[in-house]
Amino acid sequence: SIDRKVDSLLSLMTLEEKVGQMNQYNGFWDVTGPVPKEGQAAKKYEHLKKGWVGSMLNVKGVKDVKALQKMAVEETRLGIPLIFGFDVIHGYKTISPIPLAEAASWDMEAIQRSAEIAAAEAAASGLNWTFAPMVDVSRDARWGRVMEGAGEDPYLNSVIGVARVKGFQGDLGELSLAACVKHFAGYAFAESGKDYNTVEVSHNTLHNIILPPFKATAEAGALTFMNSFNDLDGIPATGNAYLQREILKKDWDFKGFIVSDWGSLGEMVGHGYSKNLKQATEQAANAGSDMDMESSGYVEYLAALVREGKVSEDKIDDSVRRILRVKFQLGLFDNPYKYCDEAREKQTIGKQEFQDGVLDMAKKSIVLLKNEKNLLPLKKQGQKIAVIGALADDKTSPLGSWRIAADDNTAISVLEGMRKYTGNQLVYAKGADVALGTPKFIVETKINTTDKSGFNEAVNAAKAADVVVMVLGEHGLQSGEGRSRTQLGLPGVQQELLEAVYKANPNIVLVLTNGRPLVLPWAAENVPSIVEAWQLGTQSGNAIAQVLYGDYNPSGKLPMTFPRNVGQVPIYYNHKSTGRPGGDTPTESVFWAHYIDSENSPQYPFGHGLSYSKFEYSNLKLSSNAFASNGKITVSVDVKNNSTVDGKEVVQLYIRDLFGSVTRPVKELKGFELTEIKAGQVKTVTFTIDEKTIEFYTVNDKWEAEPGDFKVFVGGSSDTELERSFSYSK
Ligand code: IFM
Repeated sequence: SIDRKVDSLLSLMTLEEKVGQMNQYNGFWDVTGPVPKEGQAAKKYEHLKKGWVGSMLNVKGVKDVKALQKMAVEETRLGIPLIFGFDVIHGYKTISPIPLAEAASWDMEAIQRSAEIAAAEAAASGLNWTFAPMVDVSRDARWGRVMEGAGEDPYLNSVIGVARVKGFQGDLGELSLAACVKHFAGYAFAESGKDYNTVEVSHNTLHNIILPPFKATAEAGALTFMNSFNDLDGIPATGNAYLQREILKKDWDFKGFIVSDWGSLGEMVGHGYSKNLKQATEQAANAGSDMDMESSGYVEYLAALVREGKVSEDKIDDSVRRILRVKFQLGLFDNPYKYCDEAREKQTIGKQEFQDGVLDMAKKSIVLLKNEKNLLPLKKQGQKIAVIGALADDKTSPLGSWRIAADDNTAISVLEGMRKYTGNQLVYAKGADVALGTPKFIVETKINTTDKSGFNEAVNAAKAADVVVMVLGEHGLQSGEGRSRTQLGLPGVQQELLEAVYKANPNIVLVLTNGRPLVLPWAAENVPSIVEAWQLGTQSGNAIAQVLYGDYNPSGKLPMTFPRNVGQVPIYYNHKSTGRPGGDTPTESVFWAHYIDSENSPQYPFGHGLSYSKFEYSNLKLSSNAFASNGKITVSVDVKNNSTVDGKEVVQLYIRDLFGSVTRPVKELKGFELTEIKAGQVKTVTFTIDEKTIEFYTVNDKWEAEPGDFKVFVGGSSDTELERSFSYSK
């Protein structure tokens, strides 16, 4: 019946009104202030009143949203409500860990809950659409936006993307947001990790690696998609009919709408694909991009292009139908002010329940990379601790990038978290800054600080301590959009600080806070304990302190490979074999796929993460070593917690397809189970392998299972030891 309502509304609309639904504006003026008289704001205001705007982004708060919605509903001819979009990427005001960190939890329930919290808070503030989740499979740590996704694996990105869509969209009630799966497609493959750069990927990689999470989230009911800034095979994604019409709308039968990325329609001119905005408009509309974010191409030229016969009105109708359908699904026609309840807004923002939720998510996101000399957990009594590093005392950095509704200085710092644990003498020294000045969201910040004036104080504090906790890494705004890096070490003079402190006291627990894999060979070699604490959001310091003091046993696993050096990038576990593989085994001959100055293996592999418990794997068994069409195999493994502390482990299942009609990766994650194992307990974990598990996009341009021989691996990281073989026949 929604379709009938959509059609009857569509039949009333003029061409300009239809095109208006396809236009999205950014709201940067004081919407409840005086009517703007000139400039962009005045024009947008006029267009709003004419019904030439279908959506606004970056207008937030019940008061402002209500004011604009009122204009759309009461002052336009047809009173079609606006849909309000915003980047609710990892929380709204109450901030959860950056998505890459959440991915490290491998905990779908917690991730879904985190998205639910974000949605409930944002929806209470008038919003009804988030530009998330980002499901771009990301293999290149130089690209700053790896912080926004679930890392390098298509399967992990798929299940996490689905959990996020479910969390955001819920029952589409007043506590839910429409999700927007982005960036369709290939954006993370920006050449040399430089944001917005051209993308060179094969058809094979596009279908087997990049597209699966998009397909999974479309099937899970995501209401909208966003296309992307990059070109793909020479065609900008915004003007790419193969991606949008052929794959998404036809093959996958996606019924929602596609919004462009910010100005990406106009940027097709920059790409050298369109000679001007008018041609870009024609190309984007014909390619199936339904809504234009901030290029003003549609509102300026689309009606004329229809009249000139360059874009068919059928295509416009299709786009408008999609947009109206989502507005109906959200219930905006029943009640355009569904999200605009001031009392609810007041009661909801920052609720204790949300704080508890993001704290839980933050603890689950921490990855223990290394723990020697039993430095961790710290003792709650009788240990003199020096805390060093500017990031230890920072209440803004932990909020990370893409958290535009949150206020600076609202995170619990590591120092605050640790100070809650009494009994220790805790001394703090900054040591060094991470950047020249305070990084800002839009403004470029130089990372090359050279100031070492704080070193002495830090070294003295370390000398007087039993254990030194060094909080080093990237500021939250040193990763994210537009923050590509060519070096992946610690910004500024932090590496020198680390080495200077180490000379004074080598009992160092290094707490890393960063939005991407870093390259830290010296620390990996020398520092006894390393904790990957990403940017963990509002409750960051509490989560880190609970892990450091052993009140929470870490169970996170890396969703991205940590390289040994930048030259290895892009480095990822599910690479192809090559005709001359060889791992890291030295050979006499030089003619094999390797480096003469580095090992092939990474510093820390995908899936790696330790615990205060010690898990041992044994007894990997298959129910059979062969299966045929419609059959299956059960895989089982025993995992023993050989320690005195209860813990959780992510048991991971990988397969290798030994040969195929197209070359296949050396390993592919096909399943995992996050399981709690009590001290001393042995748990048997089982997985099922069937045709679905081994399907891939073959030389026939379709997903199918090919007969052949396979290996199966199970363990606590992608660097597993246990393996068995099986075969599949049709
Ligand atoms: O959602 C974002 C996108 O990921 C990058 N460009 C701007 C959009 C809206 O803010």
